[in-house]
Amino acid sequence: MTSISTATPGWLALRAPADDSARSAELAHELARLLSGVSAPIVVHDLGAGTGSMTRWLAPRLPGPQRWVLRDGDPDIVEHLDLRAVVDASGHAIASDVVVEDLSQLPADAFEGSSAVTASALLDVVTEAEAAHVVRACVAAGTPALFSLTVTGAARVRPAERHEAIEHAIGAAFNDHQRRRHDERRMLGPDAVPAVAGLFADAGWNVRVAATPWRLSRRRGALIAEWLDGWVSAALEQRPELAAEAEEYRRHRLAQAAAGHLRVTVSHEDLLAWPR
Ligand SMILES: C[S@@+](CC[C@H](N)C(=O)[O-])C[C@H]1O[C@@H](n2cnc3c(N)ncnc32)[C@H](O)[C@@H]1O
Repeated sequence: MTSISTATPGWLALRAPADDSARSAELAHELARLLSGVSAPIVVHDLGAGTGSMTRWLAPRLPGPQRWVLRDGDPDIVEHLDLRAVVDASGHAIASDVVVEDLSQLPADAFEGSSAVTASALLDVVTEAEAAHVVRACVAAGTPALFSLTVTGAARVRPAERHEAIEHAIGAAFNDHQRRRHDERRMLGPDAVPAVAGLFADAGWNVRVAATPWRLSRRRGALIAEWLDGWVSAALEQRPELAAEAEEYRRHRLAQAAAGHLRVTVSHEDLLAWPR
């Protein structure tokens, strides 16, 4: 796989409740409306499927019968797919297939005859060329796309105290890290939603974007700690000169998270695109 997959089943399970609360029910409803006249079964391709969290959340919101094609470049993560209890809007079990394949190998006609394409927490780790390839495949097949939970680069940690300067520096370094070039690939990071929205708009498609932030309360200490630790580590990889101040900041904030005193908002956006 040409991307750097940092997804593990443990991390995906830890974030799943926050993801599910954040996703845009309104855009899912709009997709269901677009699919209402489609002849059965509805066929949905989920890109970067991981352990199947997008399918678990979206399938009950769409009409059935449904067949899902779960595509991911990491053969290990799909070993942990869990679709046992997944049903469509009528309560019937869904059918599914798994394709292990890097996005760069996605056939141009992969979505021919399908009803929808989805992805979740994927667009920020793809390149501009990969995003353009996916959009071209959607447009060629006339298949609506719902891309959920793409990071925008904004994060807010509370209580604010007096950490604005170091938090600003960490945030900026983290975003540069997201956009970094690695093995000749430059990931879209926080530029992903505007880039993909622009590609669909250029093709003459309708695009709707919804803000879908994680709003992590004090009770989400384990997820806050994991997120904050990764946020600071990525920033330090990008700007090691921040180490002294950032490590002190990390120690203080992790202690607050462990004590149940920290709240975090991490911004994401969902994007729905469909032909006019
Ligand atoms: C952050 S995880 C999200 C998983 C799942 N969609 C979810 O929301 O829980 C990103 C997933 O995309 C896959 N992925 C990343 N880059 C990829 C690529 N270039 N080709 C195929 N899969 C990729 C990873 O293996 C990983 O399973």
